[in-house]
Amino acid sequence: MTTQESTIAATFDVYRFDPTKDAAPRYQRYTLDVPPHTPVLSALLRIRAEQDPSLTLRYSCRSAICGSCAMRVNSKSRLACETQVGPEIERNGRVVVEPMRNQAVLRDLVVDQEPFWRQYDRIDPHLILDPRHPMPEGVPTSMSPEQVEAFKETPRCIACGACYSACPAVEADPGFPGPMALAKLYRFVVDPRDSAHQDRLLRIQPGGLWTCLRCHLCTAACPKDVRPSERIRDLKEMAVRAQGGTENGSRHAIGFKDNIRERGVLIEAKLVRQTSGVAGLVGQAGQGVRIYRKKPEILKTPRKIEGLDEVEQIYRALDRPAEDGQ
Ligand code: FES
Repeated sequence: MTTQESTIAATFDVYRFDPTKDAAPRYQRYTLDVPPHTPVLSALLRIRAEQDPSLTLRYSCRSAICGSCAMRVNSKSRLACETQVGPEIERNGRVVVEPMRNQAVLRDLVVDQEPFWRQYDRIDPHLILDPRHPMPEGVPTSMSPEQVEAFKETPRCIACGACYSACPAVEADPGFPGPMALAKLYRFVVDPRDSAHQDRLLRIQPGGLWTCLRCHLCTAACPKDVRPSERIRDLKEMAVRAQGGTENGSRHAIGFKDNIRERGVLIEAKLVRQTSGVAGLVGQAGQGVRIYRKKPEILKTPRKIEGLDEVEQIYRALDRPAEDGQ
């Protein structure tokens, strides 16, 4: 005896755009009866087979492995093959399907991933071995399990581009490498077999590392829990340790830390000098005047907060060298 699977009537509003023909994008509505656990990708493929053969999308494995089907479902960048229709309908009443952001639309749900891959190439995504220290004969790797542990999340990345689509820093600055490229960079920087650690950190910083806003949207979007924002944080810490503030971004990080220690609250006017030096202060004088006119209190030195001694204790704890296992 077979049991009839229950279905729901689902509404899909799908982004449609052919830049070679259309003046502007539009949303096309389709309705479909589907079991609630149906993946959005399967629903789209049914729409294409049964209602509209012109609907264009990209996919391959249908198993959350290849990364091809990344798109935005109800405003979130995700894999369509592992996003179920039922919960989307429950939360939003419909399923709005759009192409990934930060990449030009080629047609409908397919984007041009060239910028995403160009940024990946920029980090030299391969081991650069030190010719003076060849691998011991017959030993495939000189890494300890602890060293492998340091980047165990990064190999999970399937390069779907969901993080790149979700990243507001990429939107603001297309020269920013993006979360995936930086997470991959981290993998090589912490690999003890790679001879270019320092060089990799130096090269990525201008217009790279410090553009990250620490919003963590990449980590929220990542379907494989690679947590790119945490890897970017780790890279920033390494850059500060390696260079001690010889670059604007690391100077800003160090300045921010020292700044708050003084009064327990940020002294905005001082931070500009700490980040950019006197020359930077002069260069930003015009902006300072504009800020002062709009919000003069921001440039005043704030009062010390109550409990500043507790803040000082936190700083001392942070400055203490890490003990083994801590
Ligand atoms: S189709 Fe391969 S990850 Fe979705």
